[in-house]
Amino acid sequence: SEGIVLSEKVLEVDSFLNHQMDPVLMKEVGKEFARLFEAEGITKVLTIESSGIAPAIMAALELEVPMIFARKQKSLTLREDIYVEKVYSFTKEQSNDVTVSKKFLFPNDRVLIIDDFLAHGEAALGLARIAEQAGATVAGIGIVIEKSFQSGAQRIKETGYRGESLVRIASLADGKVTFATEETVH
Ligand code: G4P
Repeated sequence: SEGIVLSEKVLEVDSFLNHQMDPVLMKEVGKEFARLFEAEGITKVLTIESSGIAPAIMAALELEVPMIFARKQKSLTLREDIYVEKVYSFTKEQSNDVTVSKKFLFPNDRVLIIDDFLAHGEAALGLARIAEQAGATVAGIGIVIEKSFQSGAQRIKETGYRGESLVRIASLADGKVTFATEETVH
């Protein structure tokens, strides 16, 4: 009810997720991710700045594990102490180098990747590549809002990672949000 359909592809949710944040809702989001992934032996939650941080810290709080947010930087000179992956943003039509310090991810980690939106999956899959660079296991990918009509959900499925989205949107056509039902998704 608070989402504003900006176009057939973009939903604005600045009132609770992307600008103003709703902490009570984020707490519930964290609990739900923790419930979904509780059997996975998660040791770290990994997200990307900035809007992934709120749902990720709440999930990490529930799971009682550290949360790491990857940083987005323009182009970097080669550095030994960080993992780097290129992530292309279709929305912003630009690539960022996404980085995580080598101090915080290890081969024995079981990583839960969290992000606010899933569009083409660039951010989530970039984070998964970073976890794999560290030799860690990607134990799951948790998304707050999935736009099921874009390619990200299918791409995650093809990698074999376990993906869970709390909200699935089938369409933003005609200025309205149409949610995906179980039947239309699977
Ligand atoms: P992808 O990672 O799934 O491929 O998505 P894409 O490149 O298209 O997304 C780039 C940015 O736009 C991401 O945020 C993503 O969360 C956001 N985004 C994608 N689709 C929507 C949408 O329909 N509505 C809103 N509100 N955001 C969308 P970002 O640039 O990393 O920004 P932020 O996390 O710093 O806020």
